[in-house]
Amino acid sequence: MLNSKVVKGFTKLCSDGFYQGWHERNGGNLSYRMTAEEVEALKDQWCEDRPWAEIGTEVPELAGEYFMVTGSGKYMRNIELDFADNVAVIRVNESGTKYKIVWGLVNGGRPTSELPTHLMNLEVIKRRDPELRVVYHAHPANTIALTFVLPLKDDVFTREIWEMATECPVVFPQGIGVVEWMVPGGREIGVKTSEIMKTKNVAVWAHHGMFVCGHDFDETFGLMHTVEKSAEILVKVMSMSDRKRNTIQPDDFRALQGPFGIRLDEEFLYEKHSDRIGEK
Ligand code: 13P
Ligand code: ZN
Repeated sequence: MLNSKVVKGFTKLCSDGFYQGWHERNGGNLSYRMTAEEVEALKDQWCEDRPWAEIGTEVPELAGEYFMVTGSGKYMRNIELDFADNVAVIRVNESGTKYKIVWGLVNGGRPTSELPTHLMNLEVIKRRDPELRVVYHAHPANTIALTFVLPLKDDVFTREIWEMATECPVVFPQGIGVVEWMVPGGREIGVKTSEIMKTKNVAVWAHHGMFVCGHDFDETFGLMHTVEKSAEILVKVMSMSDRKRNTIQPDDFRALQGPFGIRLDEEFLYEKHSDRIGEK
């Protein structure tokens, strides 16, 4: 297990996120839907004897699949130091309502408290593209800061972040979905988040953090990094002024579509009637 490519990729994302400052204490978590080849290659090191536990929601389209997930209360910082203490491989049962730990969390514990949101996201993104396998939650400070000053609306949030870096609409052309403040760790917030993930790769949780998804660990980390970098630029701009002298205009965004092979929803390309950041 510990020498496998999947464990190395999972670990690298956790460490990279920690060194970005996105994982205070046990903040943040990571899940990965394993491939049939990985399961085949590693399963003789797993044990199916542990009891089934309730997921707290239902994910029938993930029945029988295996996932690598961080443990609840575990620190991202410690994953590179002791993987088996901090991470589990779990299997989802045939009705998609229960899971069992088949490897890891060797000193006890359970998967992340955000397991319902992770699995519900993994289910809807699998429907979109069977190779979308990674869901990552972090607490990046600039994105969180913006949820206190921008309207919690998908169109405004997306547009203001897009304007901060030309690469943004290229990296996440479907935009950002925003979830108003909710109690974390349960089914309800998972329902709201997975509704967003049906079409988008980025969901922001107001006053809490961000969820992103991707095909592999690099792409998923890179998406979190891109959104947070643009949020940082916006925080810097807003700390100088409540308005912009220059910016990327709707027609400029439209001009990116051909060269980069993307399609941008007109919802985000509204004409602004105000030059104040965050106003339409
Ligand atoms: P866990 O330690 O249960 O993964 O929770 C951390 C977190 O960020 C909750 O939103
Ligand atoms: Zn969190």
